[in-house]
Amino acid sequence: MRILAISGSLRAASSNTSALRAASILADPDVAIVLYDSIGALPHFNPDLDNDQPPDSVQALRREVGLSDGIMICSPEYAHGIAGSLKNALDWLVGSLEFSEKPIAVINASPRATHAKAQLLEVLRTMNGQVAISASIDLPLMGRGLDASGIATDVELAAILRGAIAELVRKIESTPKIPT
Ligand code: FNR
Repeated sequence: MRILAISGSLRAASSNTSALRAASILADPDVAIVLYDSIGALPHFNPDLDNDQPPDSVQALRREVGLSDGIMICSPEYAHGIAGSLKNALDWLVGSLEFSEKPIAVINASPRATHAKAQLLEVLRTMNGQVAISASIDLPLMGRGLDASGIATDVELAAILRGAIAELVRKIESTPKIPT
């Protein structure tokens, strides 16, 4: 099983990216959690470019989504909203066949970031993503400065992440696959 992990933060030492890397460490060997690390290379969404031959980076993103059985998103809140880089990536996926009906887990690394989480859930539902609510969890990382291995070796955080992965896997297994 393949899960595409998308971080909404471009920071090198991002806690959101670290959480996704930790999930990759913690997943069972038959569950590959693959980090999509090119969100910053996507052009600004422009419907004029969303034609038969979209930009290479967009085609690559859609290919990654198409190859994956599910998606895990972890993103910061900026000014009570979704990170712009993440919204831009999602806008490029609105018109794609690959995204629709994909099972998704939303990991919220800052439990106080309630606005962005609510917005993200609304956007994903509007895009026909199958958000697994039981896999969409709060992970109390704020201010702890942990890297991926620090998160993966923290007993409480690892248990929360393992639970989210298990719930997403359950959702993937119970969702009929749409041929693309
Ligand atoms: C933030 N942050 C933030 N946090 C929050 O809970 N609500 C908010 O509205 C904002 N707004 C905001 C604006 C700007 C410009 C910055 C730089 C930061 C804090 C931010 O979400 C937090 O530091 C995240 O943990 C950063 O994620 P990464 O980069 O560590 O993954």
